[in-house]
Amino acid sequence: MLASARCLLLGLGLVFGVGLAPPAGQAAHTSELDKFFKVCSRSDPKLEECVVESLNEAKGNIAKGVPSLGLEPLEPVAFREVRIEEGPADFQLRFVMRNASMAGLANFTATRARVDFPGRYIEVEMLVPRFLLTGRYSFSGQILTLPINGNGPFNAIVGSVNLTNRIRFSEEKRDGVLYWKAVEYLWDMNMNELHVDFRNLFRGNKRLGQYANAFINRHWRAIYQIYKYLVTTNVGYRFKDITNDVLARVPLDEMFKP
Ligand SMILES: *[C@@H]1O[C@H](CO)[C@@H](O)[C@H](O)[C@H]1NC(C)=O
Ligand SMILES: *[C@@H]1O[C@H](CO)[C@@H](O)[C@H](O)[C@H]1NC(C)=O
Ligand SMILES: *[C@@H]1O[C@H](CO)[C@@H](O)[C@H](O)[C@H]1NC(C)=O
Repeated sequence: MLASARCLLLGLGLVFGVGLAPPAGQAAHTSELDKFFKVCSRSDPKLEECVVESLNEAKGNIAKGVPSLGLEPLEPVAFREVRIEEGPADFQLRFVMRNASMAGLANFTATRARVDFPGRYIEVEMLVPRFLLTGRYSFSGQILTLPINGNGPFNAIVGSVNLTNRIRFSEEKRDGVLYWKAVEYLWDMNMNELHVDFRNLFRGNKRLGQYANAFINRHWRAIYQIYKYLVTTNVGYRFKDITNDVLARVPLDEMFKP
């Protein structure tokens, strides 16, 4: 039984939020799993190192996706919609990103994993050289001291990323079988470089648009400081949903081989 290989596939599902679940009622092609993933066991005293190693070894095989496993391509990851709609009272901002794609995740290097089995908590830390984001945005409100509005296409480069996936689970029993379900997924991201280009700001006023892009690119650290927790939470929602699509079909004992 390749249960622990499935565990690792699930681990990648957690990390990437890829839709790797088979159609309901159909078993995963478990015979394919160990072609892509090094097998780990939860009784392995070095389980965490094993998970890190497996993720790093598997990434080359899985970047393009594995159709027979229902594993979607990781390049790019698609986001239908991300909403950042609150903020401290003085900095009210509404930012919506639609039809966005994020390239670069498959170039990760996993550096550390923590698996707290009794506490139902998993953490995976990774470094990503850069993300390239493209999509459509709409903006209204104020960033720091800058009033801003507009909508249109955008692109962004997020460089030298240090990313920690922090996932909490609950446990449920169905037909006598235990499953985990993600109840909280935080996409805790820090980076050392950010460059954005929002087109068509201020109804296409080029001068104001250039000024606003330059302002954001100059002050991005302070801006991210304010909105980071919203990014962490909102991007996490996407990964949580897809994680749970997978978890609904994978019993705990297959996710972590006893
Ligand atoms: C997003 O993509 C869908 C499907 O391609 C399309 O119907 C929709 O209009 C797009 N939304 C935006 C804001 O571009
Ligand atoms: C990921 O790595 C490949 C191979 O080095 C490179 O061609 C590609 O541009 C990288 N992706 C991003 C978004 O940097
Ligand atoms: C990533 O960032 C966290 C928080 O700043 C830090 O504790 C950790 O050491 C960093 N990891 C790496 C590999 O740089």
